[in-house]
Amino acid sequence: MQIINTINELRSALEKQTSVAFVPTMGNLHAGHIQLVEVAKRHAQCVVVSIFVNPLQFGVNEDLASYPRTLDADCKKLEAAGTSIVFAPKVEEMYPDFDGGNLNQTMTITPPPIANELCGASRPGHFSGVATVVMKLFNIVQPTVAVFGKKDFQQLFIIEQLVKQFNLPIEVIGVHTVREPSSLAMSSRNGYLTSEQRNQASQLNNTLQDIVNLVNSGANDYPKLEQQAKTTLIQQGWLVDYISIRSSLTLAPAKDTDSQLVVLGAAKLANTRLIDNIEFLR
Ligand code: PAJ
Repeated sequence: MQIINTINELRSALEKQTSVAFVPTMGNLHAGHIQLVEVAKRHAQCVVVSIFVNPLQFGVNEDLASYPRTLDADCKKLEAAGTSIVFAPKVEEMYPDFDGGNLNQTMTITPPPIANELCGASRPGHFSGVATVVMKLFNIVQPTVAVFGKKDFQQLFIIEQLVKQFNLPIEVIGVHTVREPSSLAMSSRNGYLTSEQRNQASQLNNTLQDIVNLVNSGANDYPKLEQQAKTTLIQQGWLVDYISIRSSLTLAPAKDTDSQLVVLGAAKLANTRLIDNIEFLR
């Protein structure tokens, strides 16, 4: 496995490759990320994983500085999983206009308005930052296939729009969410939780699952179900950002005629913001 830090070196390493499967990450890798590598391996001989904590997608009051950076441990896991190349650039490498932490001169992508709903409502600019860095990484790696987790369902939706609307010759593959035995979705941010909070954290998934069960047994007043779920979580000590039942095809609020649905939630336990979702049919 090669570990590469610069765009030039990566380009020459990839020169002879005819097909590349790409997994973008921010590092601090867990079994969810490794599952993406496993899927990537099925699609190309050469698997490139990027590790880059992208400043452009963090808000001013978010955890950019404290986001866990564990490059050595990540590389060991990636090597064991059969990764060909790790691309781990510095901020200056990815953002030539980076100037002492100032990214104001950076050219960015404006995603469609759906990026301002759900997670985008409380994280203004987040999906513009994600779309911009993913576009840059796509231009650098030029993969045939790119693999993303469904855990970040809205992110995956926006990347699919990026590829479609900018005519990129890339197949985007979404991979199911890898969970702890408790049903808690694996996340680098779970490391912020105390052991007590970690035990409590599966309540988010349980609450979403309750909504799925209620819809499957005939409930169809979606705003009421969302409100009830919020109340349950608040009573359990969560600070709820949103619970929302949407079309899994368009991410628009679910209508009675929609049969392919996804229920998404974001909520904070103390200072840790967790997200989760469940796709389902009705
Ligand atoms: P990061 O949070 O590191 O996630 C990298 C990829 O792993 C994403 O596609 C995410 O959906 C996937 N992933 C995370 N937890 C998962 C789980 N439990 N099961 C399956 N897949 C999981 O998402 C990002 O980084 C960044 O926004 C990025 C796309 C790299 C752009 O900076």
